[in-house]
Amino acid sequence: MQRLLVTGGAGFIGSNFVHYVMANTDNYVTVLDKLTYAGNLESLKGLPEDRFRFVKGDISDAELVDGLVSDHDVVVHYAAESHNDNSLHDPRPFLDTNIIGTYTLIEAARKYNKRFHHISTDEVYGDLELDDPERFTEETPYNPSSPYSSTKAGSDLLVRAWVRSFGLQATISNCSNNYGPYQHVEKFIPRQITNAIDGIRPKLYGKGENVRDWIHADDHSSAVLTIIEKGVVGETYLIGADGEKNNKEVVELILRHMGQDSGAYDHVVDRAGHDLRYAIDSSKLRNELGWTPQFSDFDAGIEDTIQWYRDNESWWRPQKSATEAKYKEQGQ
Ligand code: NAD
Ligand code: DAU
Repeated sequence: MQRLLVTGGAGFIGSNFVHYVMANTDNYVTVLDKLTYAGNLESLKGLPEDRFRFVKGDISDAELVDGLVSDHDVVVHYAAESHNDNSLHDPRPFLDTNIIGTYTLIEAARKYNKRFHHISTDEVYGDLELDDPERFTEETPYNPSSPYSSTKAGSDLLVRAWVRSFGLQATISNCSNNYGPYQHVEKFIPRQITNAIDGIRPKLYGKGENVRDWIHADDHSSAVLTIIEKGVVGETYLIGADGEKNNKEVVELILRHMGQDSGAYDHVVDRAGHDLRYAIDSSKLRNELGWTPQFSDFDAGIEDTIQWYRDNESWWRPQKSATEAKYKEQGQ
């Protein structure tokens, strides 16, 4: 049994990870989350009270973080400002949380010599051409495009420097685009599913040719647990499930599964600096740590995700109109 401190555990991927840990291990979990617009306590309902605790707070609060880190065996760091579009309109919170928040956590982990796992993104590598035969590997040079991805890149570099200079017991993972339950309606897949439920035509940025490499959130969780259990300190592991699809294909699939005309979507103004394509080569994680993804059928995964949003309207409805109003102002 280990005591895990999970930052950002009330967000999309963090809450999926907490449910996964509860179902698949006997570990004890404390979630530290500020409950920004992206955090939702409803995502953590039904967890066993004897193995789970929630603490509301900011990862940049050094005193709070010091006390919590000293009490746990492993810090699993998910908390971040995570949405590219928001980072283009108001970058400051991305610097505060992604850079200063990460700095605060690694200082505490260093002080108490605790195992630290840093969750990051494939976006730190920039983007690929549509016809590039290469995919991102752990050796790809950093080349982030947006305020979001540059602050994630900065946080990765802080963790690497703390490993080298101070012997921080850390691993890093960079994962591709996640889908599944509990994802905020600002993000692409939930936005289009809930639009279709509401009779609003889905919105594609630009031509819709941009490619994302989709992975189910449970596969991300199993990969992170594998790295915590078997990963080599100081190493970076890329997480991906060979799920490349362009945005147009994804919207058409959602509309088909929802019994609607697969051409009934609108093209809207493109995202500034929009990364064209992400693609992950996860051979290192598969070959060295023996991890394999379980969700190989994207079609079936999307069908389940649509069903989850149909069954859990009370979870997403409170955020929907404010999210769409914000997009409308931006012409998206
Ligand atoms: P999210 O926006 O859904 O959740 C972020 C959570 O962090 C929220 O619960 C929020 O309240 C919390 N938080 C934000 N600022 C905080 C602060 N200062 N102190 C404490 N808590 C704070 O994000 P997500 O999509 O679940 O992403 C989680 C992590 O995974 C991020 O680090 C992100 O960079 C990374 N990631 C995401 C994806 C993806 O596809 N969504 C892919 C790869 C990596
Ligand atoms: O690659 C990992 C990253 O994936 C994570 O680091 C980020 O935290 C996460 O938000 C996600 O970033 P993206 O920018 O790829 O995700 P988003 O859901 O915002 O958009 C996915 C694609 O869909 C992207 O090409 C933009 C496009 N899009 C998005 C929205 C919201 C649309 O075409 N229409 C939309 O309405």
